[in-house]
Amino acid sequence: KLAVDTGAKGTKVSPDLYGVFYEDINHAADGGLYAELVQNRSFEFNATDERSYTGLTAWSKTERGATATLAVTGEDPLNAGNRNHLRLDVTGDGTAGVSNAGFNRGLPLKAGRRYDLSLWARRSEAGPLTVTAEDGRSVIGKATLQVKAGGWAKYKASFTSSATTDAGRLIVQAPAGRTDLDMVSLFPRDTFKGHGMRTDLAELIAGLEPRFLRFPGGCVTNVGTYDPYSVNQDRRRIYQWKETIGPVEERPTNFNFWGYNQSYGIGYYEYFQFAEDIGAEALPVLSVGVNGCGENRPLTDEAKLAQWVRDTLDLIEFANGPVTSAWGKKRARMGHPKPFGLEYIGLGNEEIYEEFFANYPKFADAIRAKYPTIKILSNSGQTSQGGWFDRMWQFARDQKADLVDEHYYNNPDWFLANNHRYDSYDRSGPKVFVGEYASRGNTFYNALSEASFMTGLERNSDVVRLASYAPLLANVDYVDWTPDLIWFDNDQAYGSPSYHVQRLFSTNVGERIVPSTFEGEAEPVEDIRGAVGLGAWNTAVRYDDVKVTAADGTVLLADDFSAGSGTWSPGLGTWAVQDGGYVQSAQVEDARSTAGSAGWSNYTMEVTARKTAGAEG
Ligand code: AHR
Repeated sequence: KLAVDTGAKGTKVSPDLYGVFYEDINHAADGGLYAELVQNRSFEFNATDERSYTGLTAWSKTERGATATLAVTGEDPLNAGNRNHLRLDVTGDGTAGVSNAGFNRGLPLKAGRRYDLSLWARRSEAGPLTVTAEDGRSVIGKATLQVKAGGWAKYKASFTSSATTDAGRLIVQAPAGRTDLDMVSLFPRDTFKGHGMRTDLAELIAGLEPRFLRFPGGCVTNVGTYDPYSVNQDRRRIYQWKETIGPVEERPTNFNFWGYNQSYGIGYYEYFQFAEDIGAEALPVLSVGVNGCGENRPLTDEAKLAQWVRDTLDLIEFANGPVTSAWGKKRARMGHPKPFGLEYIGLGNEEIYEEFFANYPKFADAIRAKYPTIKILSNSGQTSQGGWFDRMWQFARDQKADLVDEHYYNNPDWFLANNHRYDSYDRSGPKVFVGEYASRGNTFYNALSEASFMTGLERNSDVVRLASYAPLLANVDYVDWTPDLIWFDNDQAYGSPSYHVQRLFSTNVGERIVPSTFEGEAEPVEDIRGAVGLGAWNTAVRYDDVKVTAADGTVLLADDFSAGSGTWSPGLGTWAVQDGGYVQSAQVEDARSTAGSAGWSNYTMEVTARKTAGAEG
């Protein structure tokens, strides 16, 4: 018998309880939510970032009658933020040029759909560029651009695809002479609300009716050098929001924490716009001059730190300032004179280093002084980060942060056992933002364990004000991290079982939770997977030669990761080689197990682990 006390006052549910955490991980932006179909459009990929990269990554030569020499050069670049371009020298009759392979299998093109093409070109003599979309058998879209003699200029055209393919190519052909090319871009005309996001992915996210959008990520926000692009182009730079706004051709690319180039085609303006388009509050997270995720290179130079604080204040002005303010004017010029109405700002992501305690107050005090109504989120790192978690929480209390961002990735049993986690949380201090959580795995059972846990979040919503599953997006061909909420390739997408649980909860938020009692026999929840999971994750440690052995001596997995990235067979888990043949995460499931959630089995995991310099944990 279920008895519900409908007359009780109950707990008021936070109106912003369920949101999404977007990170540019697993190619969530380029090759994902950002609808751009051309990979390496600005020829900025280079081997200093990633050994396998060249300026011609995703590009190859095409010769149709004439002969071409290709070179990626920095000579007389398009602008200071875009230092390289393609130099195409064509000799002979006919044309020659380059073909772009897009992401995954190729460019997805649909019959009857309109595509917008743009590129920057420079030629000493006027001449036509022929641009075609091809599906391996025939030309399915075509445009001709008349390039004038002289300096860099932007050229645009559009075409309708006459066929459907998920393995298309975009081919740019030039006549004899020298042609410089940069920012070669192809977008489907119809993007989500016309703002450049891939429609099916944006609709899946919007379908969650998220109340907030945390962005631009976790580790992606706070790893790298503090030097701006103008000072240091060859090192991974920490996420600097000012580099990500303005004309796209002036935004530098950056090699991100997850091991690939990000174009910043989705930058801060686009994040704010996307939040507005899906009806969510924008919740940006910025570093306080402290790195995280296994790297500690704190910003101690007072002048640079002061600039970083000013940059943070400028971000609030960019979001909320009037059009007469310096940064409000830039927002208006980009197309949004009305302020975005920013209410929250996150300071730090898992910045579990002593310098966090010194730096955070400088940012929080400056924000409080200039923008007293903005809610400030401190962070606590992951629950698994031991003493740090408690220290960070105490610090947030002392600092009177509005909310504390907690993170945890645990097995389903933890989620079942922790339904009551927040029942005893202090109600007088900062509120809780569960900014990243997921049970390890993407099965129905994982989703069920999260659903159980989420009833505890709702019941305690007077203290748990915001919660978001993590990570949100994963391109099946570029997996850095599992599990994920939404999976996709270049033309298909689906929500994992966890997605459907998130959607069920977030589209059915009540106003109050009233007490209820249950009388009767509770049936134990069975682990219907018939499998157990074993995972390893540590941001500071790289793994090599992983070997997992079951109690009966069966070796479930033995891999030295020398072969690139892939999936253990049969369906045991996924892994991705980071650099020089090691992995950061490893997961394996014993598909033979019938232990279910009630029983324990013994496994041995042997790894060779390498700590990165300065790593902790
Ligand atoms: O969600 C994946 C990563 O997990 C985030 O980047 C980081 O904040 C956490 O360690």
